[in-house]
Amino acid sequence: MWLFGYGSLIWRPGFEHVRSEPARVHGWLRRFYQGSPDHRGTPGSPGRVLTLVEQAGAVCEGRAFLLPEAGRDGVLAALDHREQGGYRRHPLVIELGQGEEVAGFTYLAASDNPHYLGPASADEIAAHVACSVGPSGPNRDYVLELDRALRRRGIEDPHVSEVARHLERLV
Ligand code: BEZ
Repeated sequence: MWLFGYGSLIWRPGFEHVRSEPARVHGWLRRFYQGSPDHRGTPGSPGRVLTLVEQAGAVCEGRAFLLPEAGRDGVLAALDHREQGGYRRHPLVIELGQGEEVAGFTYLAASDNPHYLGPASADEIAAHVACSVGPSGPNRDYVLELDRALRRRGIEDPHVSEVARHLERLV
């Protein structure tokens, strides 16, 4: 069973896996449209974190993780708990580094979940992120870590880098 990571799972998986490799999914965009009441914000002042948004023709580059057969239920239960703030498992086809397609899943926060914040401009998102903090730390660290992790891996994501550049000017 393969899991596609497009956010913090890329640089901090924190779960047991057999191997991981660069991967992409077609028809999805990475966006800071999800509210975070539990990690990078609080229930009264949620931060902004990633989800995937469906768009025909789009490609989202990330990382695929092969989960172990033995103990898989425990790994999934821990991930479900970590991503409980509006995310659910969503099945999709993952293209691995060599072009091989495998069936897998990701965690995404759909627009009908109670924490969804939806679209905003890059400077609005940056302003929101700059003043949000939660139990997992400042929201700005999440965005700037993500931006660095993507660039280190040669992944270009204009949405992420635009928000990160606005944020760097603010903090
Ligand atoms: C990820 O890194 O793929 C991820 C992003 C948001 C929620 C769960 C996982």
